[in-house]
Parts: sequence; C-alpha cells; structure tokens
Amino acid sequence: MPLLEIRNLVVRYGEIEALRGVTIAVEQGQVVTLLGANGAGKSTTLRAISGLAKPASGDIIFDGHSIAGLGPEAIVRLGISHVPEGRRVFPGLTVKENIMLGASNRKVSASQISREADAMFDLFPDIRAFSGALGWTLSGGQLQMVAVARGLMAKPRLLLLDEPSLGLAPVIVQAVFRIISQIRKDTTVLLVEQNARMGLSVADHGFVLETGRIVLGGRPDELWANEAIAAAYLGGHAKSHV
Ligand SMILES: Nc1ncnc2c1ncn2[C@@H]1O[C@H](COP(=O)(O)OP(=O)(O)OP(=O)(O)O)[C@@H](O)[C@H]1O
Ligand SMILES: [Mg+2]
Repeated sequence: MPLLEIRNLVVRYGEIEALRGVTIAVEQGQVVTLLGANGAGKSTTLRAISGLAKPASGDIIFDGHSIAGLGPEAIVRLGISHVPEGRRVFPGLTVKENIMLGASNRKVSASQISREADAMFDLFPDIRAFSGALGWTLSGGQLQMVAVARGLMAKPRLLLLDEPSLGLAPVIVQAVFRIISQIRKDTTVLLVEQNARMGLSVADHGFVLETGRIVLGGRPDELWANEAIAAAYLGGHAKSHV
C-alpha cells in the first residue's frame, strides 16, 4: 500500500478548476517529483494534501485513511509537513527559533527541541553561523535552508517540498538537493519542481502535471526515454519569474 494515494482529485478556486482529476501514488521511502509549467497545479496538489485547499471531489489517502477535508492542524499531526513556496520565515525570530517552530506539533520538551534544532545545523552547515541572527539577515538560499530545516523538525512521515530550488544559485540548489537525497532514508518526499533535470535527479518516480491533469508518470529513466515528452515537458527550463 502506498503511503500516499491521490485519487481523481478535483480542486477549484471559484470558477477556476486548478486540478481536474489528479491521480498519483507515493510509496513509502520514495522521493516522488511533480513536474509541470507555471499554473499547472503543482502547488495546489500540495496544498490539498496539507489541508490548505479543499477538494471538490476525489480522495486523498494517507497511510490507509482518507484525509480529504481534514484541517491543516490535523494533517500535520498525522505526520505531513509542508514547506510552501516562498521560504516564509518569521523575521522577528532568530534562525534557530524559526527552525524550532517546526516542532510545534510534537509533544517533546523545549530542551529536546533545542538540541534537535542544533543538530539541524549539521545538515545545513551553511546557516550554522546565523543561528542567533534574525531571519531578515539571510540570503534567499539560506532562507530556503531554514524553511526545509523547519519542515524536518516536524519529523514528518511525508515531507512536501514546493520548489526548493526556486531562485537559488546553482551551488545552493545542489546543496538543497544533496539534503533531499540524505533525508530520504527516514522521510518520504513529494517534491514539486519546475526544473525537471534537478527534480528527477533525486527522484524514484516522477509525474508531469499539465493544466490540472497528470499527463505522464514513470521512473526518471522512463520519462527521459520518451523524446517527444522530454522535449515538451522536461526541457529543464529554469523558472522565469522569481
Ligand atoms: N488562491 C487562488 N485563487 C485563484 N486561483 C488560483 C489560486 N491559486 C492558484 N490559482 C490558479 O490555479 C491554477 C494552479 O495554480 P498552482 O499555484 O497550483 O500552479 P503551480 O503549478 O504551482 O504554478 P507555479 O509553477 O507558478 O507555482 C492556476 O491557474 C492558478 O492561477
Ligand atoms: Mg507553485
């Protein structure tokens, strides 16, 4: 049984049908990448899983139980952590405090959370020096690392990552993807990427979303092997807007 199954999911924003019957499965322990152009519905898929967007129809099954229609807090408690687009950090808090916020769903002592946050800097050594600094002093790539570290502090069974490479310099992108390959040992990851080359480099499986529908799914080698598909959907263009 897959850890996550989305069946025929439809999500609307008023008149706009953002998802028109999306079906995907994510197996335990995998990294699954969702590719697609701007507006294809990638973020909406993650928002539906984490309870931020309400399904109009279809189902979302996590660990054998339907979570469609549950609120975001209930879904976090089940072990799903969402790192949204835009690397939101709280500028009035320090970097370490921002990271510690990720554990607010867990019943562990403050000292334990503090120790775990310190350990996050082993995974993200580039931000260690900023531990006590306020959020606004960081670069985009460093903010992205804080956002991913905060997501990991929830100790999620499923981590949803929305375009962690967006707007980052290539060297930082590589660091972020290195971390994604490291955490896959403990955490199942559903990754949204517009850069197919990057997104598939760490994936066990990929899906291509086009205007609210899955048009293709398979192992990365299968996706690349289809030349017409590769040219149309997997060109690996970096996102133009940031
Ligand atoms: N809050 C909203 N209100 C109305 N329409 C929305 C809203 N959020 C998204 N949409 C629309 O839903 C569709 C899917 O958007 P979504 O953000 O899921 O796409 P995406 O694949 O994540 O795109 P991007 O690569 O630009 O982040 C788009 O047509 C978008 O305009
Ligand atoms: Mg998006």
